[in-house]
Amino acid sequence: MSSLYVHIPFCVKKCNYCSFISFPSKKEAFELYFGALKKEFEHKVKEKLKTIYFGGGTPSVVPFEFYKSFKFDFADEYEFTFEINPSTVDLKYLKNLRSIGVNRLSIGVQSFDDTILKSIGRIHNSSQAIECVKTAQAAGFDNISIDLIYGLPNQTMELWQQSLQKATTLGVQHISTYGLKIEEGTHFGKNPPKGLPDEDLCADMYLRSVEVLEKNGFNLYEISNFAQKGKESRHNMTYWENNPYIALGVSAHGYQDGSRYYNTSDFGKYLKNPAEPEFSEKLTEDEILTEGIFLGLRMKKGLSLKEFKIRYNVDFQEKYAYVLNKYKDFFEQKNGRISLTTQGLMLSNVILSEFI
Ligand SMILES: C[S@@+](CC[C@H](N)C(=O)[O-])C[C@H]1O[C@@H](n2cnc3c(N)ncnc32)[C@H](O)[C@@H]1O
Ligand code: SF4
Repeated sequence: MSSLYVHIPFCVKKCNYCSFISFPSKKEAFELYFGALKKEFEHKVKEKLKTIYFGGGTPSVVPFEFYKSFKFDFADEYEFTFEINPSTVDLKYLKNLRSIGVNRLSIGVQSFDDTILKSIGRIHNSSQAIECVKTAQAAGFDNISIDLIYGLPNQTMELWQQSLQKATTLGVQHISTYGLKIEEGTHFGKNPPKGLPDEDLCADMYLRSVEVLEKNGFNLYEISNFAQKGKESRHNMTYWENNPYIALGVSAHGYQDGSRYYNTSDFGKYLKNPAEPEFSEKLTEDEILTEGIFLGLRMKKGLSLKEFKIRYNVDFQEKYAYVLNKYKDFFEQKNGRISLTTQGLMLSNVILSEFI
């Protein structure tokens, strides 16, 4: 059984902070791209699919007819997530998605504050975001996630708290909260915005997410992800548990047979040769081990010491005693697992770099 990520690189408009690969939405481009994607699909997908994730870009800017012809062979209890943006879908589109097996939606809300939404270049406002969730529910979706960003220009703690609180009232099952990263080459990268919250405020915003969301039944299960019980993203868990997944589409990254690979980010090149990754590298045992730690410690449940020993043939506590000692206040150990505390997750960049 396989997990599959498919990148759909089209957006109505580039957001000011975003560095994901995407191109303007055009019918001719959709036709060419989906032709190539199907070739890559046939070449790479050979087994039943237990998780599928169509991400972007904005998969929902592409008309439904382009998705209809994929022949998915689902495993029992599969999870099929599709990313949508508010103001790009209606009830019919969402019902159509259900008809091809989509059973989970990830909605890019980012904020429920209209001034902030405008300043980061989003095409929707807060009421459209709320409407989008309601339409998804009316279409029958009962596994919905929304994305929020903190640390945005002119975002105060109060505004962040309001967005969090709003998110908890909508009847969704999963919430992702990302700290704004100013990426090179983006609008914000080239024109640094004024009014960015400082590091301390961002850290407090993160802690406020944990407090507000956990109080409302959304448990932190990965650095940036909160879910009601049983509604954790199974597809993303595949990544964090260091398990293989197939990747299709421009700029998509995959991990199969011990090799990490990625496809070209060049649209024209991809169309010419969709089945050939631009880069592929067999990981050494050491690299697989380090990835296992980096990814595993992102999860609140951390790593099972026993499974770690079986999988990597390494005694975690023995080999990394110096890191565990140095950051002892940021690790916790129970039921045979070792994990980062919430404070530790917040500092994970610093702590994890010690494992290299
Ligand atoms: C792959 S993006 C695409 C989602 C969808 N197209 C949308 O924008 O609504 C997934 C999520 O990453 C987050 N994201 C993207 N760029 C970011 C950045 N520079 N800093 C923080 N979060 C970011 C946003 O929350 C976004 O919803
Ligand atoms: S954040 Fe989403 S909608 Fe905005 S440019 Fe990036 S992928 Fe497109």
